[in-house]
Amino acid sequence: MGPERASQPSARVETSGPRETEAHGAALAPTLALGSLVLVSGDLGTGKTTWVRGACRALGVSDLVRSPTFTIARRYSGSVAVAHLDLFRLDSLADEEPGLLEEYFDPAGVCFVEWPEHAGVDLALPVSAAVHISHRGGDRRLIVYGCPEAGWGHRTAGPEVPRR
Ligand SMILES: Nc1ncnc2c1ncn2[C@@H]1O[C@H](COP(=O)(O)OP(=O)(O)OP(=O)(O)O)[C@@H](O)[C@H]1O
Ligand SMILES: [Mg+2]
Repeated sequence: MGPERASQPSARVETSGPRETEAHGAALAPTLALGSLVLVSGDLGTGKTTWVRGACRALGVSDLVRSPTFTIARRYSGSVAVAHLDLFRLDSLADEEPGLLEEYFDPAGVCFVEWPEHAGVDLALPVSAAVHISHRGGDRRLIVYGCPEAGWGHRTAGPEVPRR
């Protein structure tokens, strides 16, 4: 196990409402190193923005964190610089200006990316953590960290996530 594996959490947890999902984002955020790129994947309305909102609050962001869907990205300043991207409307980063992601990625901050799969295969930046959220009926959600089944676990590693 390399050092990057040891430092990454890998766990699955169920939440029963948005407050709980926010709390999990808030719990993970302090473990992020400066320059972290965090991929937040999952189907529509699973709570990706909700999770990021909790993470941002723990990073000292006092602005209201909303979906950046119509702007691609929002920047916040907390105890560190925070960028929140939503790539839902991108077909592929290949169709965008080169360096679109790098523009928002700050080595002295933390960058959260929703719908990372819309960037295509190459994000061109090292991924620090991956969060995958799925519906579990009603207000229940399953949150998986460092998740190989989302296809983004190769850089985040951690112990193999057990399947149910
Ligand atoms: N356990 C839960 N965790 C997170 N959100 C929940 C939960 N239960 C209900 N919700 C609700 O689900 C919605 C999730 O919205 P949110 O914008 O966070 O999802 P999203 O995954 O970012 O959506 P999108 O795919 O449009 O970006 C909110 O209305 C939230 O209140
Ligand atoms: Mg969202």
